[in-house]
Amino acid sequence: MISLTLKSIVQKVSVEKLETIQRNVVPLHQNHIHIIMSTYSTEDIRKVTTRRLFEMKQRGENISMLTAYDYTMAAIVDQAGIDVILVGDSASNVIAGNVTTLPMTLDEMIYHGRSVMRAVKRALVVVDMPFGTYQGNSKLALASAIRIMKETGADCLKLEGGEEIIESVKRILSAGIPIIGHLGLTPQSINKFGTYTVRAREEQEAKRLLSDALLLEEAGCSAIVLEKIPAKLAAEVATEVKIPIIGIGAGNGVDGQVLVLHDMLGMTNGFSPRFLRRYADLHSIMDNAVKQYVEDVKSGDFPNDKEQY
Ligand code: KIV
Repeated sequence: MISLTLKSIVQKVSVEKLETIQRNVVPLHQNHIHIIMSTYSTEDIRKVTTRRLFEMKQRGENISMLTAYDYTMAAIVDQAGIDVILVGDSASNVIAGNVTTLPMTLDEMIYHGRSVMRAVKRALVVVDMPFGTYQGNSKLALASAIRIMKETGADCLKLEGGEEIIESVKRILSAGIPIIGHLGLTPQSINKFGTYTVRAREEQEAKRLLSDALLLEEAGCSAIVLEKIPAKLAAEVATEVKIPIIGIGAGNGVDGQVLVLHDMLGMTNGFSPRFLRRYADLHSIMDNAVKQYVEDVKSGDFPNDKEQY
């Protein structure tokens, strides 16, 4: 039921499927039907590569990206037609229950990366390099990057930061490993920021962000994620650089969008930033299912005659 619903949400949907969604999913946005029909992009089953992301930007096709951290969810998201799957270090929050992304280790990211890779056939899979594995030491960065690539089989890595990590970026790229940059609200620097509020509202920080984006492009990065910055600035960056800009809380003037899967599916319910659109209320669906199961077990209704040997 859950996977059917998610597949239906992300895939091209016929009116019939829409009716199924409306029956199965608790009330969504009023313009939901329009959203579903207008965002479906492709039935192209060729493997997505970094080169294809670049071509998508060139022909003005928006790039769709979601996180996934395990086999089952990655299979659903991939089969539904997503372009990019991010094995994000947001696993630290939504899977491990930590407050920040900082505790995530290289071994943990490799575990999640491997699980996702076993499921994915089409999407480009990007693994986040965790905090402490690439900052301030480009040799360590390359060794960490090679471990992730060898042990997961992922297609690409994502690193947070600009000028301050450029040596690491260049060294990793020199080994033929594609990189997606990440600027703006970079969660691994939350202790420096002291707040999850919008970044780069001030001119100085905005200028620095643009120059970091140009630096990452010049170094050879394949794309850049911009998180929680003013839409106008994000659109300017997307115009200035030729590589794709993928936004989260960065408006619609960029080349693609990314959300955390558990948030957009409404599995997490204590997190409601303005940029988050919930496409389902899986929290309620799962809560009801578990409650029903408990009731059925307690009452002796489950298993019935047909559910036993
Ligand atoms: O780890 C993550 O999920 C991310 C996205 C928020 C872009 O980096």
